[in-house]
Amino acid sequence: TDSFTIAIDGPAAAGKGTISKAVATEFGFAYLDTGLLYRAVGARVLTGVDPIEAAQTLQPEDLDRDDLRTAEVAQAASKVAVISEVRSALVDFQRAFARRAGGAVLDGRDIGTVICPNAEAKLYVTASAEVRAKRRFLELTGKGEVTSLETVLADVKMRDDRDMNRAEAPMKPAEDAVVIDTSDLSIEQALELALKTIEAVR
Ligand code: C5P
Repeated sequence: TDSFTIAIDGPAAAGKGTISKAVATEFGFAYLDTGLLYRAVGARVLTGVDPIEAAQTLQPEDLDRDDLRTAEVAQAASKVAVISEVRSALVDFQRAFARRAGGAVLDGRDIGTVICPNAEAKLYVTASAEVRAKRRFLELTGKGEVTSLETVLADVKMRDDRDMNRAEAPMKPAEDAVVIDTSDLSIEQALELALKTIEAVR
């Protein structure tokens, strides 16, 4: 088969999404933002649905809800993401997506370590919490959300802590991942580095 999987992991607002989309476009690959799966489950939990049931009955159209990008849903997502049954309910969908013909880019926290340990290319995109909070603050206020830099920084750190310290599939670079720290890089520089890294293994 002609499947080729690119795994891109890392914390929130490190530039993962931007890099993943651009990489997918460059290679003509399909792109899956796996954070959306956890956000969709989190959003359903906020309406009173049990987390495990929400994950097991998740529908593709749940990923299209336009309220998944809020700070409230992000926190709810990181809370449901510690539940082992929630994670296992989402595995098959992600692996099937990764193996599709024509190539796929998946971004998340555990793609290179757990979902696709045999991915042909693995990146871990990171940046300091302060830089990431500033980027996320500008993104949220740009969309009209009312918040402060302090609040966003506290949220980022809380989510990092939960994602790195959970028992199941903690966020960390795979042994064979190339780490890209975007703290002092422009989007263009980070993307150039990502493309060079992937082209080297392609
Ligand atoms: O990437 P995003 O900020 O949309 O992810 C929301 C939350 O979903 C993360 O904080 C994390 O807890 C969880 N997540 C995960 N595994 C993934 C993707 C996201 O645990 N592969």
